[in-house]
Amino acid sequence: MVYLDCAATSLQKPQEVSYAVSRAMSTMASPGRGCHKPAMLAADCVLNCRMMLASYFNVPEPESVIFTYNATHGLNIAINSLVSEGDRVVISGYEHNSVTRPLKARGADVHVARSELFNKSAALEAFRKALPGAKCAVCSHVSNAFGFILPIREISALCHQSGVPLIVDASQSAGAIPLDFAQLDAAFIAMPGHKGLLGPQGTGVLLCNSEVFPVLYGGTGSNSATNLMPDFLPDRLEAGTHNVAGIAGLAQGVKFIISKPSDAIVKHEKKLCSALAEKISGIPDLKLFYDEGMNMQSGVLSVMSGRIGSDELAEKLGKAGICVRAGLHCAPTAHETVGTIEEGTVRFSFSPFNTLSEVDYAGDVLKKVLNTL
Ligand code: ALA
Repeated sequence: MVYLDCAATSLQKPQEVSYAVSRAMSTMASPGRGCHKPAMLAADCVLNCRMMLASYFNVPEPESVIFTYNATHGLNIAINSLVSEGDRVVISGYEHNSVTRPLKARGADVHVARSELFNKSAALEAFRKALPGAKCAVCSHVSNAFGFILPIREISALCHQSGVPLIVDASQSAGAIPLDFAQLDAAFIAMPGHKGLLGPQGTGVLLCNSEVFPVLYGGTGSNSATNLMPDFLPDRLEAGTHNVAGIAGLAQGVKFIISKPSDAIVKHEKKLCSALAEKISGIPDLKLFYDEGMNMQSGVLSVMSGRIGSDELAEKLGKAGICVRAGLHCAPTAHETVGTIEEGTVRFSFSPFNTLSEVDYAGDVLKKVLNTL
């Protein structure tokens, strides 16, 4: 089997991740809920992971690193904190349902700053035009459907000029492309733990630089005599017992990433992406969504065949042992922007553990499947 669906979940992780999960499950209890050894071990584990994340993302106050259950959870907190009914909110043309659905639920007046794929200046121009009068902006760092790296530093600067707080969805970039929280100065950055950070499913992280409102209310092990949530972080946003086993695994994923040179993972994923693009570029009737030179693309290659539907092609690839995801990737806004909303695409996505020979093999299988139609 060749697993190329890392934009959904990275399947191959450092071995230490599952060891840490297993160790945590048999030794750790509820952090902050007791002074016995299993509770203290859990508290140390959560604090250690928080400190590592703060250091990796350059978050000056580690308590602003919040553990969530996935990126969607973090995005809901961020949107809930900044957006009220009727507020004008600007989003990029590449957002996921984890952004558009909470905005719809809040009754926001959403303006899509649509721009051409892999076109940096068009993305900036779209934001420049749309930002005046906005209450908030939301932008993916990298499109989960097409791998487009949005110019997030420049978009953040435009937001600052307009006085508009920015929420960054780093679901597709965290762990692969270096992100400096202090320098970016966004209101929030949300990310999953189970993709590029190489942790288990059910983990996520929200970096906060704004007033926050919880979406979950409950016990925190602090201020227990009152029925109000604490007004300090991280407790304000971390109700209920943490996913301690998940966080233990996440710490090992982050440790692995920190041990690599900062741009090694993104370089590797770009190399795999271009190798696949080059291998399959001559296939008749196959459209590739590829930024020649990979300046504005990372980790994801979407394709569409004129001979077979995307779902059917992904199913055939799956039967031949190539794991990819087809359809709209929960990102209909991105597919509307690119013009692939009817059929969706077949998406190949990479991790630090994929190799050139896997990519070569996947290209051969794709050719074979399409040749036999
Ligand atoms: N949002 C994830 C994906 O892109 C699950 O597949």
